[in-house]
Amino acid sequence: MKRLSIGMFDSGIGGLTVLKEVKRLLPYEHIIYLGDSARVPYGNKSPQTVKRYALESAIFLLTKGIKALVIACNTSSAIALEFLKKKLPIPVVGVIHPAAREAARQTKKKRIGVIGTKATIESKAYEQAIKEIDPEIEVISKACPLFVPIVEEGLEGDEIAFFVAERYLKGIRDSDIDVLVMGCTHYPIMEAMISKALHRDVTIVNTGRETAKEIKEMLSSEGILEKKGRGGCEYFVTDSPRTFEIMGSRFLGEPIKKIKFLKSLDFKDYLLNP
Ligand code: DGL
Repeated sequence: MKRLSIGMFDSGIGGLTVLKEVKRLLPYEHIIYLGDSARVPYGNKSPQTVKRYALESAIFLLTKGIKALVIACNTSSAIALEFLKKKLPIPVVGVIHPAAREAARQTKKKRIGVIGTKATIESKAYEQAIKEIDPEIEVISKACPLFVPIVEEGLEGDEIAFFVAERYLKGIRDSDIDVLVMGCTHYPIMEAMISKALHRDVTIVNTGRETAKEIKEMLSSEGILEKKGRGGCEYFVTDSPRTFEIMGSRFLGEPIKKIKFLKSLDFKDYLLNP
């Protein structure tokens, strides 16, 4: 069981910021990463669609014989975590609860800001997770949909990014928070700009980092943590592997190899024509 891979999925390249932290903390694990790049972005889609996409990704990864599933996408975690936990026979970890726990641990003022995609913010998943820990904490949320294309265009250090960050974060800045959760896979890439636009000292929570810690704890408690070997990663994408390779390396912080193209996530396609 220990030797089996961990399955991880995201709407595309964003989840590589989560993978980066997981690789760092769990160097002996083998990870199968699925980026549904043909259907990105998930962040402005309806809950029904995001749930269906999540189930399709999970089924594909299950056919690879994985020991645990990581939902490395905030939008999918916000909408489909409970659903997948009920449906799947293996442990499932999302990115929301680990980040919510860390934010609740860090706040002294009991005021936390959360930023994410439209679907994540509308789901109120972070708010619920934080309030379950401490109902007295005030959560101030803001959808920042333009951050995703800004990061994908490589403009995270540009004045455009500053202008947009200033505009989006004004309400959060004025609401006297002391902790901010970056509730989207892309935001760690523009952390410096987000921090600058807050204009004061705020603790920023990186969801990928907290999720990596949670995965390690879960694997240890289940007795399936790999403690030796070489580890490694294998990638599947539903759109151009070349684009994923070029853009993804920036997110992962290292070159990406072994990328396979999946014609679709319809199981009849990959099971009948492997
Ligand atoms: N991966 C998504 C998230 O973390 C961002 C990109 C998208 O909208 O699909 O919410």
